[in-house]
Amino acid sequence: MNTRILRIDPQHPDSTAIAEAAEILRSGGLVAFPTETVYGLGADATSAKAVSSIFEAKQRPLTDPIIVHIADYEALESVAKNIPPIVETLAQQFWPGALTLILERSEHIPPIVSANQPTVAVRMPAHPVAQALIRAANIPIAAPSANAFSRPSATTAAHALQDLDGRIDAVLDGGQTMIGVESTVLELSGKYPRILRPGGVSLEQLQILLPEVTIRTELIEMSAAAEAPGQLIKHYSPRAKVLLFPDEKSLPALIHAAQGRIAKGQRVGIIGLNGEMPAFSGLNIALFPLGVTLEDAARNLFAGLRALDEQQMDVILAHGYSRKGIGAAIWDRLLRAAEGKVQGS
Ligand code: TXA
Ligand code: MG
Repeated sequence: MNTRILRIDPQHPDSTAIAEAAEILRSGGLVAFPTETVYGLGADATSAKAVSSIFEAKQRPLTDPIIVHIADYEALESVAKNIPPIVETLAQQFWPGALTLILERSEHIPPIVSANQPTVAVRMPAHPVAQALIRAANIPIAAPSANAFSRPSATTAAHALQDLDGRIDAVLDGGQTMIGVESTVLELSGKYPRILRPGGVSLEQLQILLPEVTIRTELIEMSAAAEAPGQLIKHYSPRAKVLLFPDEKSLPALIHAAQGRIAKGQRVGIIGLNGEMPAFSGLNIALFPLGVTLEDAARNLFAGLRALDEQQMDVILAHGYSRKGIGAAIWDRLLRAAEGKVQGS
């Protein structure tokens, strides 16, 4: 299959390109499109056949459920049922935006979307291209991140094409995404609301509305994906091995490890904030500066992992930052890229 590349202005999406992409979705095809978090790989969420082709294109196991995207609150009724009152409050505050809610699945959404679970994950993205596409298609859109299974998510159309060129019908190229890490996944069915995946909306932001919200910190092994399918430990992985260190204080240990790897003849890459780059001068390594703030780091994290992979690094070294705010999502993605292993612990 020849994947069509439809370039589009991210702020003022051209209606011809949107109409073309919407028509592909309506006829059961696959379209990658930008959201404010990462690129999604969209299909008609009401069609089991269309959704099954997402799993095929991504080589994603059928046990990993997919988020359904809507463009307005009214559409929620067709996707979920028995919606608890708190959802309207959360939606007023955080939708459109980087928050995904786990609700009871309606009959309009086939079980394959949710890996046969009675629930469904729903999100209303804020990106103008995503909004325009969902409205034009006039159906709920099932969309996981637009990467091959277990690879770093795509924050540009080029990243989506690296993994999916020839496997999907089209990509809407609206440039780099703004947030860079995926949405926060919030479960509401338990005794307390619980974050299953930290993301673009922080724990601290949610605590203002939901003081009792908790965050799931335990990690599920590859073999035990029961409670939150898709929360697999190996995720967001570049081909290179990722060596993750706890925090800023581990910088000397990180540099020592880099020197050791270089001495063994390995190709070493490091990602870090711009201000840290001078600490690595003189080392024979490839550097990918993530920017100045943690928001920059979130935006550029997956691009950094992919860029160092393109340069054929054997290992990529990184350390964690604050675990607060967007820092929680950065740490989670780094930890999964490192297959759950933290150096020196
Ligand atoms: O920002 C995002 O969320 C992006 C954009 C495209 O919207 N999407 C995304 O999708 O990251 P994906 O498939 O890569 O991640 C979806 C996450 C997985 O961790 C999955 O386990 C969880 O949401 N999830 C989906 N449906 C679920 C359900 N019914 N119950 C529990 N977790 C669910
Ligand atoms: Mg994903």
